[in-house]
Amino acid sequence: MRVVGGPSSIKLAENISLELKAPLIKAQFKRFPDGEFYFRLLEDVEGEDILLVQSLPPPQDQHIVELIYMLETCRELEARSIIVYAPYLAYSRQDQRYLPGEAVSSKILAETIQRAGASELYTVDIHNLKVLNYYCIPAYNLTAAEEIIRYFLSKGVEKPLVIAPDDEEDALKRAEAAAKIAGTDYDWLEKKRDRYTGEIATAEKALNVSGRDVVIIDDIISTGGTAANAAKILKKQGARRVYVGVTHALLAENALERLKEAGIEEVVGTDSVPGPVSKITTAPIIARRLKSR
Ligand code: R5P
Repeated sequence: MRVVGGPSSIKLAENISLELKAPLIKAQFKRFPDGEFYFRLLEDVEGEDILLVQSLPPPQDQHIVELIYMLETCRELEARSIIVYAPYLAYSRQDQRYLPGEAVSSKILAETIQRAGASELYTVDIHNLKVLNYYCIPAYNLTAAEEIIRYFLSKGVEKPLVIAPDDEEDALKRAEAAAKIAGTDYDWLEKKRDRYTGEIATAEKALNVSGRDVVIIDDIISTGGTAANAAKILKKQGARRVYVGVTHALLAENALERLKEAGIEEVVGTDSVPGPVSKITTAPIIARRLKSR
């Protein structure tokens, strides 16, 4: 297998290449003065099994176009197979037509990726698992929950209670997996989002947090409202230190400020969304999975 790293995930592709001991393929990207994208493979891919690494964080549309260029090029130049690793899979919210005339964006993206030549797709902590049903090729969701909790344990967080900030099945599974690694317990809160204003309300609930470290584990931080609400409840009940670990730290609006104001010690994300808090690499997650096939 050989690895091609896209513009959104160059460092991640290097890490995966090291983990898998699979060489990186040299490629050239640039933007023309008018903003158009240029891509060129500098090595032959004919007959090769390719792992194409390109996360799709904001600006999503730009990263999608880059992915499609790379995919189509590998396909036309006769790569034997092309695995796409997109740890953040954009457009995973709109899984159906909720209002007449809406675009089903997750379906359109799935069809576009398949048509461009992907043989398999891997992503991490996808927002909505149903989206993977739009893929006719094998499409898998991995989780970063274990890597996230290992990060906090390595930083001296002690016997943390792991909290899922909502009671969705996936959120509970992530919290359970993290608590298992930490050798501790997990719990959850219940959250509602107002359909029209987007405002989040989290219900108060008695938790076993007094004097304890707590790690809130979630898939995404967007505005930070969900994690901030949870942190306020935990602090009010006497939690010692509250940490937040998410897979995709999108950090929209003034999310980091909001989280700091809520008394959170540290916010950490993965390299699915490169940025100020992306301190955890997802490279071992995909490498382990590919090695075990
Ligand atoms: C919701 O279902 C997700 O798991 C996250 O909790 C949510 O997307 C976070 O959004 P925000 O940071 O805006 O509260």
